[in-house]
Amino acid sequence: MKHSRPSDSKHPIDYSNPKVRREILTRQRRDIWTPEQVESLARHLKLKPGLKLLDVGCGHGYALRTWGRYCLPGGELTGLDRERSLLATAKRFCRRGGIADSCRFVEGDACDLPFKDNSFHVTLAHVVLCHLAEPERALDEMIRVTRRGGCVAVFDNAIGGGAVSGWSNIRTRSIERRVFYDEMYLRMHDGVRKLGHGNFEVGCWMPSWMEARGMKDVDVRSNERVRWVAPPYRSPAQRVTIRSTRERIKAFEPGKFIDRAYYRQLRAGGATEAQVRRVRRGSKREYERFAGAVEDRTIAFASSGQFWCIWGFKP
Ligand SMILES: C[S@@+](CC[C@H](N)C(=O)[O-])C[C@H]1O[C@@H](n2cnc3c(N)ncnc32)[C@H](O)[C@@H]1O
Repeated sequence: MKHSRPSDSKHPIDYSNPKVRREILTRQRRDIWTPEQVESLARHLKLKPGLKLLDVGCGHGYALRTWGRYCLPGGELTGLDRERSLLATAKRFCRRGGIADSCRFVEGDACDLPFKDNSFHVTLAHVVLCHLAEPERALDEMIRVTRRGGCVAVFDNAIGGGAVSGWSNIRTRSIERRVFYDEMYLRMHDGVRKLGHGNFEVGCWMPSWMEARGMKDVDVRSNERVRWVAPPYRSPAQRVTIRSTRERIKAFEPGKFIDRAYYRQLRAGGATEAQVRRVRRGSKREYERFAGAVEDRTIAFASSGQFWCIWGFKP
């Protein structure tokens, strides 16, 4: 299936900002899949040397480097992204990882892939479809460019289908306040969809979208990594988490780009001006309490962005 319209994916994450890039495309990636899960997903996706693999929306090339390795030697790895500057970084990372000779990088749109039908054995998209206004268009394209019997795998969020994950020991809100913040959270995600900024429920729909397209052996796994800390921060992993949380607090600039987009999304999702004002005030207070508890070293929290891998094989 070919689409003539370019995709409208004006999501508010500003990848031209190096801080955002470092945070999202490098640091967060360390917390998603454990080495054991990388191995087991490689088996589920039937990766083996000699395959041609496409990473759609490759960013810095995380998925390309992580799962592309299983297609070497002999395989061909292609990273596609619409941001030229990210492709240049991906190229550098792959060179450093010693796999550059097997990689090529292509600028293009996930919803209008510049490849012939049946070009790849494996097509992945890691945390990309949630950013698209029309994720199903990208899925159609991923299936189109994959060979018969080949694997299409989408790694993504499934937010909105269930509760927010993560906990902390300073969450002392009343039930009324918790209901309020849960409502705001759902409204924000509704706003994201309405503004065409993406769809973070994409993982909830993906298995049925794949089934509806006749994909075989559709299956799903979620990540198991939980990043947590509690005093006295005994383990090396906890000490690293506390240290990087302090760095993030120092670097955080309240009221900047992401905040403004968040308030716009809340309004688009139906929150009233008064509710947005309440969120603003509450967020500031919560942030100060959080930062204080990190400084006092009394903080205990878990933050495990839950991600899913959904895959199927083209009939
Ligand atoms: C959250 S990042 C994920 C990057 C990488 N897959 C990873 O997991 O580190 C989303 C990526 O999708 C890319 N992207 C967003 N919309 C796109 C589109 N319509 N076509 C191609 N790439 C797109 C962005 O430039 C960005 O690199």
